[in-house]
Amino acid sequence: MHGLFGAKSGWGKSWYLQAWMETNAPRYDYFVCLDYADEYRGLVKSGLAAHYIIGPKEAAAWGVDEYEQALRQNPRLILARHELTPEVWREQVVAPVITAARRLAQSSGSSSALTVIDEAHWAAPQDAKLPDIIKGMATTGRGEGSSSLWATQRLTEIDETIIGNVMFQILGGYTASGDLNKVGDAVEYPQEFHNPNAMNLPSAVPESLKVDGDSIPLRKFTEGEGDDKQTIGSEWIQSDDEGEITRIDTRNVQMEATHYGDEGMKLIAPGTED
Ligand SMILES: Nc1ncnc2c1ncn2[C@@H]1O[C@H](COP(=O)(O)OP(=O)(O)OP(=O)(O)O)[C@@H](O)[C@H]1O
Ligand SMILES: [Mg+2]
Repeated sequence: MHGLFGAKSGWGKSWYLQAWMETNAPRYDYFVCLDYADEYRGLVKSGLAAHYIIGPKEAAAWGVDEYEQALRQNPRLILARHELTPEVWREQVVAPVITAARRLAQSSGSSSALTVIDEAHWAAPQDAKLPDIIKGMATTGRGEGSSSLWATQRLTEIDETIIGNVMFQILGGYTASGDLNKVGDAVEYPQEFHNPNAMNLPSAVPESLKVDGDSIPLRKFTEGEGDDKQTIGSEWIQSDDEGEITRIDTRNVQMEATHYGDEGMKLIAPGTED
């Protein structure tokens, strides 16, 4: 099965994706996370996976066979990108890792492999010639035992093949009109639900989109003020190719491992400092 996570930067994709990994990695024979921003060490600390740092030396020396062997030794792996350009990451890491994972999934009748690709617009950009193997991952049939999860903040920049072939999508908040239009192309319900600033949303929508019967847009929840402001959860709409629609609030999602994502540095307007 293949799924896509999308939302604007800071909405909580990587946090929620990590929760999905925590739940699903143990269910597969092999699990590999292509950790573009090196933020999933929490899953290593919690004992779920082993951690390999992939720098220029590893990227140059390792191919499909090496990754396959690494996965046989450590069936659950976080591969953290270290000092690699997006091109090197895509061509010399993502492509061979995906090939290795698919090979393992096909190695015996009942084998299964889950591959997770965060910052997927770098692994599968719309405007670059993609290694066929990367595209191929999202198009493998259910029978093969390969699953994948892709996450990106830029729906407009990820390859169409990926968007077109996933079986479910989990989309959060967007404010740019280009992104919201792209969401509109991908979902069967009013795209305005994904704009946290939208007003007067249509009420003739499935009850599962509403909160206590009200049509309100997706929300992000924070605690604290100024520099102490922290995200504590956010809302998402999951929809699949069978027409199922669910609204999710990650304040209700439990995760054991810590997520080492960055809230980012804040900018302060002059004259408002206390
Ligand atoms: N449900 C939650 N509970 C606690 N913290 C959360 C939750 N959701 C998100 N966060 C925190 O909010 C911050 C932003 O989330 P995250 O890094 O997942 O955003 P993102 O959508 O992946 O952004 P980007 O596109 O920039 O990578 C992180 O510090 C993350 O740990
Ligand atoms: Mg992220």
